[in-house]
Amino acid sequence: MLRPPLRLPQPFRRAASTAGPGRRLLLSTPIFYANGPPHIGHVYSALLADALHRHRGLRGAGPSRLSTGTDEHGLKIQQAAAAAGTSPPELCARISALFHQAFTQAAVSFTDFIRTSEPRHCQAVCHFWNALQERGALYKGTYEGWYCTAEEGFLPESQLTERVDAQGCTHKVSVESGHEVHWTKEENYMFKLSAFQDLLQKWLRDNPRAICPEPFYQRVLCWLGEDLPDLSISRERSRLQWGIPVPSDSTQTIYVWVDALVNYLSVLGYPETHGEWWPAAHHVVGKDILKFHAVYWPALLMAAGLSLPERIFVHSHWTVRGQKMSKSLGNVIDPFACNERYTVDGFRYFLLRQGVPERDCDYYDEKVVKVVNSELADALGGLLNRSTAPGINPSNTYPCFSETCFPKVVDYRETEALGRAAAEDYEFVVSVASLPLRVASYFEDFQIYKALECIALCVRQTNGFFQRHRPWKLDRKDPSEKLWLDTIIHVTLECLRVYGTLLQPVIPHTADRLLSRLAVEPEERLISNLTFLPRYNGKPCPFEGRQLGPDTGILFHRLEKSSQHQIENKRL
Ligand code: MSP
Repeated sequence: MLRPPLRLPQPFRRAASTAGPGRRLLLSTPIFYANGPPHIGHVYSALLADALHRHRGLRGAGPSRLSTGTDEHGLKIQQAAAAAGTSPPELCARISALFHQAFTQAAVSFTDFIRTSEPRHCQAVCHFWNALQERGALYKGTYEGWYCTAEEGFLPESQLTERVDAQGCTHKVSVESGHEVHWTKEENYMFKLSAFQDLLQKWLRDNPRAICPEPFYQRVLCWLGEDLPDLSISRERSRLQWGIPVPSDSTQTIYVWVDALVNYLSVLGYPETHGEWWPAAHHVVGKDILKFHAVYWPALLMAAGLSLPERIFVHSHWTVRGQKMSKSLGNVIDPFACNERYTVDGFRYFLLRQGVPERDCDYYDEKVVKVVNSELADALGGLLNRSTAPGINPSNTYPCFSETCFPKVVDYRETEALGRAAAEDYEFVVSVASLPLRVASYFEDFQIYKALECIALCVRQTNGFFQRHRPWKLDRKDPSEKLWLDTIIHVTLECLRVYGTLLQPVIPHTADRLLSRLAVEPEERLISNLTFLPRYNGKPCPFEGRQLGPDTGILFHRLEKSSQHQIENKRL
């Protein structure tokens, strides 16, 4: 008999960033299979979570943690170790270190790195299992079905198809991944997933923002409208030794997905200290693991008497020149090589600027070069260069803004230009002033690429403003010309300060150089305190008259075009 969960899903709390200050939040990436080195898809998952984490930190939204790590148990790892002629612990230690290194190099601001082979995690999983058992959520039964080792799961007939190999033999394979499945029959512990169907539906109906973006929310609702069979959550130990034994039955190994999902609790010190953070959790996951996070995980949590995470952010996949990345095609892209070729910030910018969560996105070298060169090197770097060039700004200061040249108007469309600013200048100032809020709202909705699109547009507008007024033609010796020249530079530097501040979560190193050049002190870099052009609103500007920081050269060097696709031909 399944007793009702101690705590059913609580009334949905507002997302952390809309709640009051000081609220804690755990952000998480999935934990990565330790059967092969990291590729750019893995780094993308981690960068999305990192950008959310950094953005939240800069908004002073309260303490947050970013957890990541490696998923080390299961048949997949056991078989990969055997194929590599090594032991699972040795393989996991090596691969886990590579993930750690890849994320460190990509400037992922993780605070916790968990390995599922660690004792703290194994203890948490055993405790979680016991909670499921004690609350009557498990029973023993014979399970048979098609098992896909690559996906570590049983698949229904509807998700299978047939493939004929070179020898003419027919194999059953997964529609989703193309990997072969094997008929498996064994005694397992079963989880009463079916008992949670109504509660899961209610949770989602009550919390329409729990799964974001919207198409994925709809997808989960659809799954929950279909048959939801109970889930096999252990394997016979004789078949799978590399995993955590069922606490009260050493002939069984805990299913790797139950083991892996509990990582979100074990990083928080479950079962002792997790309550200080849980359930204020936001999980970033790829679309392929949505069912595990949006159906199995919430059901397991309810069954164990725990509350549900607040939000699940879902992203799609990267392809390479239109093809799925795969070892057999030899087109798996190495993130270390990408950082070297495009720089860490260049590659971060590309992935976050071009990655659209709702659909798969395509990587190829020419595209990275084009995006990074036009938006970071030319538009942003060029703007800084032009507005700080000694010919234009010989005193190397943040010059003064003149209200006479750029007077405040109530409605620029109805006002004859009084000063020297034109209607389109007013329009562009309005658009930059609203940028921080627009960016925050896109981050909140997991649309980071749209935030970057808005910033890129504003950068283009600022270049247009600068170009339109040709400050290099103004005569600094003429007092009225000088006022206008200084105002043009002041407005441009104010824009750059806003862009540098808002870009910190995405290109932290470049943003730091930009802000240092503008002499913006570390405590002045918070998004929460970001004001734009206070002088236009008659308020003092702390930057006015300030000496600029040292000129450390070009902000972002243009990337060379490459004739061969060095990175794509480098096999992992
Ligand atoms: N170990 C499980 C997750 C357990 S979380 C409790 C797993 N690992 S994985 O290494 O296969 O994938 C980790 C993440 O990388 C997933 O979010 C997955 O969607 C993402 N990606 C894997 N390939 C990808 C692309 N080609 N593109 C973008 N993300 C990709 O699943």
